[in-house]
Amino acid sequence: MGLVKVSFLLCAWLFFMVFHGSLTLADDERSSYIVHMDKSFMPKAFASHEHWYMSAIESVKSTSHAYGPTLIYTYDNAFHGFSALLSKNELQTLEKSSGFVSAYSDRTVTLDTTHTFEFLSLNPATGLWPASNYGKDVIIGVIDTGVWPESASYKDDGMTAVPSRWKGTCEEGQEFNASLCNLKLIGARYFNKGVIAKNPDVKISMNSARDSMGHGTHTSSTAGGNYVEGASFFGYALGTARGMAPRSRVAMYKVLWDEGRYASDVLAGMDQAVADGVDIISISMGFDDVPLYEDPIAIASFGAMEKGVLVSSSAGNEGPRTATLHNGIPWVLTVAAGSIDRYFAGTLSLGNGLVITGWTVFPARAKIRNLPLLYNKTMSLCDSDEVLSGAPSAVIVCSDTGSFSSQLYYISRSNVAAAIFITDSPDVFKSQLFSYPGVVVNPKDGAVVIKYARSSSEPLASIKFQQTFVGTKPAPAVADYSSRGPSPSYPGILKPDIMAPGTLVLASWIPYDSVAYIGNNIELSSDFNPISGTSMSCPHASGLAALLKGAHPDWSPAAIRSAMMTTANPLDNTHNSIQDIGTGFKSATPLAMGSGHVDPNRALNPGLVYDATAQDYANLLCSMNFTQNQINAITRASYNCMNKSSDLNYPSFITLYTNQTSGRTLQQTFYRTVTNVGDAAATYKVKVTAPKGSIITVLPDTLMFQKKNEKKSYTMTINFKAVTPAVTHGSLVWIEKNSKNTVRSPIVISPAVDMW
Ligand SMILES: *[C@@H]1O[C@H](CO)[C@@H](O)[C@H](O)[C@H]1NC(C)=O
Ligand SMILES: *[C@@H]1O[C@H](CO)[C@@H](O)[C@H](O)[C@H]1NC(C)=O
Ligand SMILES: *[C@@H]1O[C@H](CO)[C@@H](O)[C@H](O)[C@H]1NC(C)=O
Ligand SMILES: *[C@@H]1O[C@H](CO)[C@@H](O)[C@H](O)[C@H]1NC(C)=O
Ligand SMILES: *[C@@H]1O[C@H](CO)[C@@H](O)[C@H](O)[C@H]1NC(C)=O
Repeated sequence: MGLVKVSFLLCAWLFFMVFHGSLTLADDERSSYIVHMDKSFMPKAFASHEHWYMSAIESVKSTSHAYGPTLIYTYDNAFHGFSALLSKNELQTLEKSSGFVSAYSDRTVTLDTTHTFEFLSLNPATGLWPASNYGKDVIIGVIDTGVWPESASYKDDGMTAVPSRWKGTCEEGQEFNASLCNLKLIGARYFNKGVIAKNPDVKISMNSARDSMGHGTHTSSTAGGNYVEGASFFGYALGTARGMAPRSRVAMYKVLWDEGRYASDVLAGMDQAVADGVDIISISMGFDDVPLYEDPIAIASFGAMEKGVLVSSSAGNEGPRTATLHNGIPWVLTVAAGSIDRYFAGTLSLGNGLVITGWTVFPARAKIRNLPLLYNKTMSLCDSDEVLSGAPSAVIVCSDTGSFSSQLYYISRSNVAAAIFITDSPDVFKSQLFSYPGVVVNPKDGAVVIKYARSSSEPLASIKFQQTFVGTKPAPAVADYSSRGPSPSYPGILKPDIMAPGTLVLASWIPYDSVAYIGNNIELSSDFNPISGTSMSCPHASGLAALLKGAHPDWSPAAIRSAMMTTANPLDNTHNSIQDIGTGFKSATPLAMGSGHVDPNRALNPGLVYDATAQDYANLLCSMNFTQNQINAITRASYNCMNKSSDLNYPSFITLYTNQTSGRTLQQTFYRTVTNVGDAAATYKVKVTAPKGSIITVLPDTLMFQKKNEKKSYTMTINFKAVTPAVTHGSLVWIEKNSKNTVRSPIVISPAVDMW
């Protein structure tokens, strides 16, 4: 009896999570708590501690809420208990239930750097980190600008012997000898024959795998860097840095040069990585406007995929324009970028006691204490030396009247001590450059500051720098710069696949580069640098893929990608649809974020996967309007074209209409096969949210698996009237009975690429 009831409640909870998440909830009244429980009180009727905790949470639901409280985690290692979003009333009820030990508010302010591991809920107690042994012995090959081997992220403390299957080497070169590799950085090679071939007289300025740009050091430490205590960017984001897979091995393949960037070098690096025996390739670059058969990443990644190596790539930084995405390659993982729940702050205190949290990354502890505050309407343009010529040594207000960076420039040439900039332009919050003391406040707070400056006879202001807040909401949001689908190189597969943290990601940097400025002349360097781009989101996904490979060594690249996609979260930390900064904070579509924000602990146990073999990808290529030679450029003629099929077994759906079919009623049927990767028999029922104006039929609507690794097929048919030029989207979710597994695929109806 008890079990039956629990099952029902579980389903109700799932439906709430998945299908009602985009409604506006009264969850401002709930906050997150960590609850310790005494497991010896668990009634025998419960199959597991998860069931018990979920039932405990359901039973405290207060009637004033339309929706129930939300379980965040269950814990069964470091301690017994769970974390959940609860109201005060619900917590009080819970405190009276049997087995309750204690509860406290979840921390919203922490001091841990790269912090993204925490934002992604990776933790030592439960989930993907312990299940994969932190990526132990998984090898990540990074195709990039080289590496700074002395970076603290490449210390090999705590690492064991290099896996014997490793065939790579540490290639000697300029300022780089073989002893610079170790148990963490297990390989380093460089490829510049392409650069030299184009320009035989070229002098390569750093002729080795040593990084002279910083990009490769950043991406590789994000994916697989070791623990570094006390990392920060001039006091911001202070804490312990680490890669997503801190016990994985990293091998660097330098293919990008100050002297040029050529496809041939990229191909060579990728090929060598596969030959050396990497498990995952991370490649934060892409080629724009090239067909698949001329795209070196598409070509080299096909060979990698055949060998079981997942290639994780960046979507590009050409957003928010539609159809700008690169690496829209059916056999790779394509990663979009989102924001993080972190804020680099300056605390502004006014003489009347008001305290306002502003944004700043000014790289020093400037002393701005009880200085006069000045608001002069003309001067607040802050847009020329002339306007600011009479400015006193005070804190002045710069209104939202021009570009932030030029205001910063003119302020730094004036007499002004510090500035309060009023703006909410997204450009400000993705840059680490802040060359003069000041804070950015939003227009609402700006009005408060101006009112005080005007009304007080002796207005004063103080600013405290080097503050970092985490837990900000809503997060994540799709970064405006993140490139959007549909993929010009093959629009028939929905791209990007997923979103990962990409904005102001702190990771290792080369020590002799200028990463910050004070005024217009003082250049600062730093071992850690917070920078933004899909280049930063890609290695997050690569590191997570390495963890999944560690936990499931038998999974194919398609299975790893499927697990990441079908468990990704389309909701943000307020439980509303993820917003898109590029469209003024409207709800993001899958053309911007793919299936949603990557959720690593859920990806560990996805329930079902959509697998695909090299032959399946070859069948897809055969269905494209390519010549046999063009196909062979990718497949190396290893596959015949007996079966042409554009219907790849992909964990997402996109249907396109053209200028010709616009206005008509269209129909498309997709065939899909899912593999049960759960431990036992399982039954899944489908739940569809049809894109607006469409009708969707799924057959059958229930899938019953008798055992692990069994496959079942279904069809999804979509009927819709193409209405120019709107993108509509929905989802298809397989929900496991008596379990928390949900297997979600976005469905998109979009105009074809040439209609944008
Ligand atoms: C390798 O390079 C490091 C650092 O430049 C140097 O300390 C070391 O002596 C070199 N080792 C050999 C064998 O050349
Ligand atoms: C405001 O600034 C302008 C331009 O610098 C200056 O001419 C004017 O005198 C200032 N007004 C006050 C009230 O200080
Ligand atoms: C297919 O390719 C041929 C030859 O390259 C070209 O003439 C034709 O227009 C293409 N068809 C489509 C639908 O792209
Ligand atoms: C083509 O498809 C059929 C039916 O799906 C299958 O039996 C056959 O093995 C396939 N042939 C090749 C070469 O993949
Ligand atoms: C679509 O068709 C309309 C009329 O048939 C035409 O005016 C328009 O230029 C076409 N647009 C594109 C992108 O081909």
